[in-house]
Amino acid sequence: MPILEGQGVNKYFGGLAAVSHVDFHVDQGEILGLIGPNGAGKTTLFNLISAALPISSGEIRFKGQKLNGLKPHQICQMGVSRTFQETKVFANMPVFQNVLVGAFFGSPNHVSGADAAREASQALEFVGLSAMSATPIKDLTLANQKRVEVARALATKPELLLLDELMAGLNPAEVSEAMELVTKIRDTGITIFMVEHVMKAIMGICERIMVLHHGEKIAEGTPHEVVANETVIEIYLGEEAHAGS
Ligand SMILES: Nc1ncnc2c1ncn2[C@@H]1O[C@H](COP(=O)(O)OP(=O)(O)O)[C@@H](O)[C@H]1O
Ligand SMILES: [Mg+2]
Repeated sequence: MPILEGQGVNKYFGGLAAVSHVDFHVDQGEILGLIGPNGAGKTTLFNLISAALPISSGEIRFKGQKLNGLKPHQICQMGVSRTFQETKVFANMPVFQNVLVGAFFGSPNHVSGADAAREASQALEFVGLSAMSATPIKDLTLANQKRVEVARALATKPELLLLDELMAGLNPAEVSEAMELVTKIRDTGITIFMVEHVMKAIMGICERIMVLHHGEKIAEGTPHEVVANETVIEIYLGEEAHAGS
C-alpha cells in the first residue's frame, strides 16, 4: 500500500514546467530511487512533497491525507522529513544543537528540553556521530555533515524520509557507509524516497526507481528494468557515461 501518492503533479516556474503531470507512489517500507539529468525536476518534486514550494496543480497524499495547502512544519509533524541537496546545517553550531532543532521541529505537541535532548542523542548514536556531539559542523568532513542532516531528519521521527543527493561528493568508501546507513534506516521501518546520481548506490539499495526528464516521468521499475530501458540509457545513463562518472 502506498504511503505517499501523487496524481497529476505539476509545478511551473513562469513558463517552465519543472514537474509535469507526474503520477507517482512510494510504497510503505520500500527504498524508492529518483534519478534523472540535472534540471529534471527531482529536487522540485521533493520541495512540493515537503511544501517548501506550493504545488501548481495536482494532488499529493500522505497516508491518504491530502498535503496540498499544508505548511512545511505540518507535513513534518505528520511524519515526512527530508534532507537537502545543499546541506542546511548551521556551520558554526555544534553537531548536537543542529540535531536538537529537528527534535523540536518534529512534534505537534510541546516537547520538553529533556525529551528533545534524548531524541537528538538517539539520532546521533544511530548515525554514528555521538563522539562528535560538541564539534562545530564546519570542522566535519562532508560525509559527516551529511550524517548530521540525516540525524536531524531522524530526530523529527519520520515515517517517510526524503534524501536529496546524500551521496554526492562522497568517496567510494563513504558511499558504501552511506548505503549501509540508508538500509539501516529503512530496516527500522522508515520508508525512503531518495534522489541520487551515484548509480552504485541506486542499484545497490533501491527496490524501485523512477526517472524524471524535463519534469516528466519517463520510466519506472526495478533497477534492472530501468537500466535496460532504451530511453533512460539515451537520456540519462548515456550522458553519465560521457561525463565519465
Ligand atoms: N525556485 C525556482 N525558481 C525558478 N526555477 C526553478 C526553481 N527551482 C528549480 N527551478 C528550475 O526547475 C528545473 C528543475 O530543477 P530541479 O528540481 O532543481 O532539478 P534537479 O533536482 O532534477 O536537478 C530547472 O530548470 C531549475 O532551473
Ligand atoms: Mg536537485
